[in-house]
Amino acid sequence: MSKLTRFGVSIDGELLKKFDSLIRRQKYQTRSKAIEDLIIEAVDNSPVSTDNTMSVGYIDMIYDHHKRQLLNKITDIQHDFHDIILSSQHVHIDHNTCLEIIAVKGEKSKIEQLGHLLKTTKGVKHGKTRLFPAK
Ligand code: NI
Repeated sequence: MSKLTRFGVSIDGELLKKFDSLIRRQKYQTRSKAIEDLIIEAVDNSPVSTDNTMSVGYIDMIYDHHKRQLLNKITDIQHDFHDIILSSQHVHIDHNTCLEIIAVKGEKSKIEQLGHLLKTTKGVKHGKTRLFPAK
């Protein structure tokens, strides 16, 4: 293992409380160790594969449309993937929150890449990609 690196993270306070409660139940001695394990798992199980199987499915995400530039970013990303997006539905959940469901068809790896880009856009609270083989 290489040398330890210290880094700062900004995170939602309520989410951090839930995380701390979870890692206490899992008997972690330190938050650093718990986060390190999560990172190892994420690196080992990258959500973006090289599988080119034709797939259909959907990407859903929840976001706050007031976040600066968020809607523009989400639209830009979707235009970059216009060839695999069949349709999208936007639902206004409450004053702040939007739910967007994007129907997709294409190579699995490309859909995963789209889902990952959307999910990791700053301001997106939840994002999930659900795929099925297109047969
Ligand atoms: Ni909305």
